Parts: sequence; structure tokens; C-alpha cells
Amino acid sequence: MNDNKTWSGRFNEPVSELVKKYTGSVGFDKRLAKWDIQGSLAHAQMLHEAGVLGAEDLAAIRKGMADIIAEIESGQMTWSLDLEDVHMNIERRLTDKIGDAGKRLHTGRSRNDQVATDIRLWLRDQITDIQGLIRDLQSALIDLAEQNAEVVMPGFTHLQVAQPVSFGHHMLAYVEMLGRDFERMADCRKRVNRMPLGAAALAGTTYPVRRETTAELLGFEQICQNSLDAVSDRDFAIEFTAAASLIMVHLSRLSEELILWMSPRFGFIDIADRFCTGSSIMPQKKNPDVPELVRGKSGRVIGHLTGLIMLMKSQPLAYNKDNQEDKEPLFDTADTLIDTLRIYADMMRGVTVKPENMRAAVMQGFATATDLADYLVKKGMPFRDSHEVVALAVRHADTQGVDLSELPLSVLQGFSDLVGEDVYEVLTPEGSLNARNHLGGTAPEQVRLQVKRWRGLLADAQNAG
Ligand code: ARG
Repeated sequence: MNDNKTWSGRFNEPVSELVKKYTGSVGFDKRLAKWDIQGSLAHAQMLHEAGVLGAEDLAAIRKGMADIIAEIESGQMTWSLDLEDVHMNIERRLTDKIGDAGKRLHTGRSRNDQVATDIRLWLRDQITDIQGLIRDLQSALIDLAEQNAEVVMPGFTHLQVAQPVSFGHHMLAYVEMLGRDFERMADCRKRVNRMPLGAAALAGTTYPVRRETTAELLGFEQICQNSLDAVSDRDFAIEFTAAASLIMVHLSRLSEELILWMSPRFGFIDIADRFCTGSSIMPQKKNPDVPELVRGKSGRVIGHLTGLIMLMKSQPLAYNKDNQEDKEPLFDTADTLIDTLRIYADMMRGVTVKPENMRAAVMQGFATATDLADYLVKKGMPFRDSHEVVALAVRHADTQGVDLSELPLSVLQGFSDLVGEDVYEVLTPEGSLNARNHLGGTAPEQVRLQVKRWRGLLADAQNAG
């Protein structure tokens, strides 16, 4: 009989080495140890309060677990593939230390509700960290927005110069995205924060478990109401990975912009040297490695989302071993996201803005053409006509190699006699910006209002949290 296996009595032969490796998860799930022990301690206390576990056994379990935590933290714990996963490794270590009390811990529990509980406890903590990191990145972007409220850059559509925008306004667009990302994480956390424990293998347990007690001890807001669903639900993991994918998509878009803006063809910004690397062959190179990798890593997180959805799509109720495959994508998603958010806040704090280059780019793209059309409309011309008039003026300026604002008054008046001296006020990038002074517009005054609004929201959240 293979003495190492919890269920060895049922089997005639041990599994092969290859099967052991193939089915084992301890190599990656040992990182759940802290949360596994947290869950076990609450379960043991509940069993005691329910009259299922004696006071001495509970005390022994607590002492044993404290020792095991110390062993894990000091790197002394030996993890054995023979014991398959983190759950059985810890339980066996406990039993080695305290004997029968250790063997009583698994009463009224299964690894199926245990693992589901562990992942939720772990993920809950990750989400809390992620929420803090989102806020930190937002505040870095808000600082940049405030410092650059007056800086004009070309706003693009189709990557063609469209209209002047404030660089601060552009930064605040990402603050909005991250604001929604924060909300999604908070919402997802509610469904993560429900307790499967007590569902046991799939049908519940014959012991008089008090699930409310365990839930309270573990800080779960709710209890999973159906034992079959409790052990087989991984919706929360998919939701988390979807929310994480969207964050990565947002950061990937910003990365693409940083990469373009840092290219000498744009020259809008510079990224601090510590986020860039050189080339082994071209001495002049300074490459934006960090944003490039963020763009690359977004694909990897989206891949995990696809993987998790595929993992679930054909599983009959309730638990199936397939579910063991939820961990690596989930871990990697959280790790990648956390590293990315952390490095990004740092990187944005090291961005140097080059206002002269941005302004020069605005002057090259007839970015104030719409302003001229609007000017004519305000003087009484129908918009469709003014659109056409301005198109002709742009064509003329283009042949002269000048901006609209550089055309003499007499020339502009040749396109419409509605043009007066005051036209030059709307033709400058600054005039164009200031004219869009309404909620959500790019006027520096609006940018400052939004900065203030966001600072207020962030401060309120901090005071409430
Ligand atoms: N290592 C397993 C997992 O990650 C734990 C649950 C195993 N349950 C079972 N009945 N084999 O899902």
C-alpha cells in the first residue's frame, strides 16, 4: 500500500511518476498556503463551536499551523509532489506534528470547497492591492494633467491631426478609463467575496456546520447558497480576468501612444532612462522597452481570459479536476497586472513633456480648420457652406506651405467676406482650446476642474476606506 496517499486504501497500485507530475499542482498552488491555513483555522474553530472538534484538538491545530507558517516563511517547509497539492501537504505536515488532531481537521470539508475558498481569499487580497495601485496610477496621471493643462498637442482621429487638445485633457482620458476599471474591480470583488466552505465535496456535509460562523471569521460578505455551485463556480475568476484584461488594454493603448510620442518623428515626450534600454549594436538607441512590454503582456492576460472561459465551457456539475487549471492563468494575470500597474505609475512620474514639439505638430496639421468653420457659422454662414469654404482655404494654405493662422487677412477674406480681424483669435491653438469650455471639453479651465473633481473623489475614497 502506498502510504503517502490519502486515498491509497482504494487502489492496487500507485500512480506512475509521469501521472504524479501531470496531476500534481503543489509546484504552483503552494503560493496559496497562507490562505489555505487561514481557511483551515476558521474551519477548525467553527467545528469546535459546533461541538464537532474538542478544545484540545483546536488548540493543537492552532499551534501546529503557527509552526507550519513559520516553516513556510523561513523556507524550511518541504513540499512533496507525492502529496499532490498545497492542501494535502499542509494537512500531512500538521498531522506529522500533532497527530490525530491534524487528521480531524478535514472533518466536514473536502478539497473541493477548500480550494474554492482558498482562491477566493487569495484573489480578494489581490483585488485590494490592485485597487490601491489603480488609484496610485490615477494620481500620477492627474498630477501630469494639472501640470500640463495649458499644453497644446494635436488631438488625433485616424492618427491624423484633428483638433488641438490639452495634453492634460489627454491624460485625464486615461484617468476616466482607470476609474471604470476601479469600479469593475470593486464590483467583481463582491462576487469573489462569497464563501464556498461547507459545500464539502458537492452536496454539503452531515456535520452540523455553522457556515455563518466560518464566513464571519474569514470576513466573507456572503455565503454561496448552493453546494453544487459553490464548488464548481469559477465565474469570479473569469470576471476578474476580464476586468484585468480591460486594464491591460487601457495601458496597452497608452503604451502605444508613449512609444509613438517618444519616437523622434513625434518628439512629444521623453521617458526616464530607467524605463528604457539601449541596443547591443546601435549606439544611439534608447528604446521604450517598458511600454512595449506592457503592450505585449496585454496579449498574455487576454489569453488567460480566453483560457479560463474555455476551461469552464464543457464542465458538467460539480467539481472536475479541470478546475485545477484555473490557478496558473489566474496567478499570472494578477502578477502581470500588479507589476504593470506598479511600474506604470512610476514611469508616468518620470515622463518629460515637450510642449514646443507638440505645438509645432499642431501648426502642421491645420488643426484649427474646424474653428474657422465654426467662426463663419457664428457670423451667419450655414455649417455645410463654411465647411466647404474652409476646405478651400486649407487647400490654399497647403500649397503655400503655411498654417491657416499665417494667411494674411486679405487672403482669408477672399474666401469669405464674413472674415474679420478677430479671426486670428480662433485660429491659434490656444484660442481653439479655450473655446471648448464646457463639461468634458478640452479647455484648460475644464481640465483644472476635472483635476479638482478627481482629487476630491480620490480623497473621499481614501477617507471612506
Ligand atoms: N488541486 C486541486 C485543485 O486545484 C484541489 C481540489 C482537488 N479535488 C479533488 N477532488 N481532486 O482544484
